[in-house]
Amino acid sequence: MIVTENESLARHTTFHIGGPARFFITCESAPDVADAVAFAKSQKRALLPLGGGSNVLVPDDGVEGVVTHIAIPGIYFEDTGDTVLVRVGAGVRWHDVVLAAVERNLWGIENLATIPGTMGGAVVQNIGAYGTELSNVFSEARVCNTETLLEESIDLANAAFGYRTSLFKTNRNYIVLEATLRLEKKGTPIYGYADLAGFADENPQASPREIAAAVTQIRERKFPSHGEEGTAGSFFKNPVVDEQTAAILRTRFPELPQRSQEHGGVKIPLAWILDNVLGLKGYEQNGVRLFEQQPLVLVARPGTTAAAVDALASDIGKRVADEVGISIEREVETFKK
Ligand code: EPU
Repeated sequence: MIVTENESLARHTTFHIGGPARFFITCESAPDVADAVAFAKSQKRALLPLGGGSNVLVPDDGVEGVVTHIAIPGIYFEDTGDTVLVRVGAGVRWHDVVLAAVERNLWGIENLATIPGTMGGAVVQNIGAYGTELSNVFSEARVCNTETLLEESIDLANAAFGYRTSLFKTNRNYIVLEATLRLEKKGTPIYGYADLAGFADENPQASPREIAAAVTQIRERKFPSHGEEGTAGSFFKNPVVDEQTAAILRTRFPELPQRSQEHGGVKIPLAWILDNVLGLKGYEQNGVRLFEQQPLVLVARPGTTAAAVDALASDIGKRVADEVGISIEREVETFKK
């Protein structure tokens, strides 16, 4: 376990923003994580697990806690007949998991290609795109219980997955060490999403590898690259409203796409509202703007502050509430000072 002090977090997040972590520990194994937890306790400081840094906003003056960078490696395949179990260290880059799976012609995560972040972050967030989400392939996770310092296994029935949430997000006493996914040897493409319609027409029988490549192309066109400018992808969740609110919105905005959810409620694409109702596409304030191709994504020019991101996000929330009458939630997590 390597402990550094006052490590800049700007270089560990895709927003490229943020002050230093009082303590920063890189954990390459389960025992490293237990040691980091014990260290934070001995210091009486908060423990802040960090994966790929692709979904966090760090305050400009940094954090007083112990940032625990989860860098546990390893991808292991186990053939079980019709399915293959893939056990993955929480620190593995998510897209590398997708690549390893589609190389073996395995089905289940091809639509999740190029989502930034790590395996651990993917589980915490229940990442989703193009009609599927991580919970659809999740088998179990091995976690460190930060209260007891013991390892536990959490299976699908107990993982409380929801839209961009899970037990691992709501119960911060668990740090994901490793996740096991169940992938299929035979599968059919999930093509229900408008963005994939053109590809689907031309490639009705595509392989997982071809679908992952198509998703990669679509995302490259739609999302900013995590290079020079900072971004954490979609900054907000798409709001899920009740039937009554959905009906009112349909009357007001007949063209607004809506998606009924399996467990009730209707999902509204916030990008559509930001673009067509509020006209905020490309709108910029203090170096932060709503991305031109996808206004749900906030992009920060080099040198921008977390305060500027936070201010713009709050303004957007207020305008959506005032002009459309719905409240929105952030998907990106802000680290506490
Ligand atoms: N739209 C506009 N104007 C725009 C962009 C989009 O009107 O400038 C409309 C589109 O026509 C579409 C709707 O808004 O009808 C939704 O846009 P899109 O299909 O691009 O997807 P999204 O709802 O904005 C979600 C996820 C993404 C995921 C995509 C694809 C959330 C918060 N976002 O975005 O996930 O990749 O669907 O499945 O659920 C993420 O979570 O960080 C993320 C990138």
